[in-house]
Amino acid sequence: MNRARSDTLVLHLPDALATEALARRLAPGLAPGFVLYLSGDLGAGKTTFTRALLRSLGFGGRVKSPSFSLLESYDLSRFRLYHFDFYRFDSEQDWLDAGFEEFIGAPNVAIVEWPERAGGTLPTPDLHLFLRFAGDTGSEARIVEAVAGTDRGRACLKALAPTDERC
Ligand SMILES: Nc1ncnc2c1ncn2[C@@H]1O[C@H](COP(=O)(O)OP(=O)(O)OP(=O)(O)O)[C@@H](O)[C@H]1O
Ligand SMILES: [Mg+2]
Repeated sequence: MNRARSDTLVLHLPDALATEALARRLAPGLAPGFVLYLSGDLGAGKTTFTRALLRSLGFGGRVKSPSFSLLESYDLSRFRLYHFDFYRFDSEQDWLDAGFEEFIGAPNVAIVEWPERAGGTLPTPDLHLFLRFAGDTGSEARIVEAVAGTDRGRACLKALAPTDERC
């Protein structure tokens, strides 16, 4: 099931623990300026992934979904991380009006759920994860396709590949 090209990695995630393990493998690759997009249907696991990433980066507090607030921010030791959720955007104009552009890019790290709702004017991400449901209804299984948009993202793909199938 797992397959890789130089800019794409596809992994099977049998349960939420596997999604969290994937986030832990990405965490060391984050650096100021890193941009990560998370796509996938409602409940696919975007916030679950982000929560595990923040834990791995040393954040011990509550990680709320930004579904309603649009934005949550975290002061971490190496950078400030902005976690966005653009589900409630209706158009590109909503994204332009929100004035979030300045938060995406150095010196911050940005994670964006539902980037497609911003209408295509977002910057190219270092990494874009596409999560989708796999298996029967109610199954915890997910498939994730990780697509690198930059050299930095390509370097991360190597770290995302599990070292054994239990990851
Ligand atoms: N393999 C899996 N990966 C991630 N989450 C999983 C998995 N299996 C089950 N879950 C559960 O599915 C739910 C995912 O919810 P989460 O809030 O992360 O989704 P989301 O993609 O952020 O949705 P939304 O678009 O509404 O923000 C959580 O309750 C999580 O425990
Ligand atoms: Mg979410």
